[in-house]
Amino acid sequence: MSSENTPASASAAPPSIPNPKSKIQNPKSPSSLRSLAAQHGLHIGAAVSEHALREDPAYREILAREFNMITCENALKWGPLRPTRDQFAFENADLIVDFAEANDMVLRGHTLVWHNMLPAWLSEQRLGNDDAHDLVREHIQTVMRRYRGRIAVWDVVNEAIEDDGIRDSFFLHALGPDYLATVFHWAHEADPDARLFYNDYEADAINAKSDAIYALIKDLLQRGVPIHGVGLQMHLCLWAPPKAKSVAKNIRRFNDLGLEVHITEMDVRMKEPATEENLRAQARIYRDMIEVCLDAAQCTALVTWGVTDRYSWVPDAFQGEGAALLFDNDGLPKPAYHALRETLENPPKKSKTTAKRPWPRLFK
Ligand code: XIL
Repeated sequence: MSSENTPASASAAPPSIPNPKSKIQNPKSPSSLRSLAAQHGLHIGAAVSEHALREDPAYREILAREFNMITCENALKWGPLRPTRDQFAFENADLIVDFAEANDMVLRGHTLVWHNMLPAWLSEQRLGNDDAHDLVREHIQTVMRRYRGRIAVWDVVNEAIEDDGIRDSFFLHALGPDYLATVFHWAHEADPDARLFYNDYEADAINAKSDAIYALIKDLLQRGVPIHGVGLQMHLCLWAPPKAKSVAKNIRRFNDLGLEVHITEMDVRMKEPATEENLRAQARIYRDMIEVCLDAAQCTALVTWGVTDRYSWVPDAFQGEGAALLFDNDGLPKPAYHALRETLENPPKKSKTTAKRPWPRLFK
């Protein structure tokens, strides 16, 4: 990790409009989540919206002070990134990448192959198979090469399993049933140093879906497909959290395949308005999950899907629900934040595997 005292990057912006790319002038307090997590070899991250990053100085402060990893929430998805076939709109991703670098944060690239948020021109157009094949390959290579050496980890494939089989999607049609192998190979070619992940939801604990993912990935590994990690999204709701023991068992089986695990999109939603009691219950779920992660041999990142509740995707996606993150609408830390901090300060008695945890290889 580079020095905490690096000078601010030069900014041409007038003082009233701070340059969103610049280093936050805020020494990282030893009791921030990022400092505490680093002592355990854990990255603590947040999905970042370019809109909030541009508009909200308080958001930038919290992000740089508390987190040492960033996922681009939408900027690298096909739809926002490729308004037309011949045009890449890299401005938003560049902004986030510059901010992360200025503030010593590691980046997760999200995502190269996902059935959702595809541009209209892609789904409408009837591409021939050869054309589609070339297009997807070119997409992966253009995007990954642009950020080579800067984006350390990629969710190469997102949500490809449905129930217990391969989901019907543009990519399945374009590339055929073995397309995961193909796209992981392309990604590895594009950036041989990047850590390549498969990411999915409702596969946090042992269940039919995580069994299917496990079987698929095991088969890919046996065939020499370059895949280094599994992302457990962990979009949870207050009333049905997964059992900690089952999540631990799930992480262990992926670790036993030689794979790293990241918790990639954690949030814990509840009915609005949030009550004190529900916020305390939420804090317990966050605490349980970080304990599981700390205790695993290779659970090396915990990323929340947003920074403050103000910009969370939850109220848009789930009617009447929200308050899912660590900071409230005003950027104030919630009980869940304190629970993570206390757990990092005073972790439960560690198992042998945790004691041996190596510093993750992501930091240069
Ligand atoms: C969500 C974003 O947060 C929203 O802003 C967007 O409108 C839809 O996508 N699983 C994923 C993420 O892998 O990419 C999704 O992000 C949330 C569910």
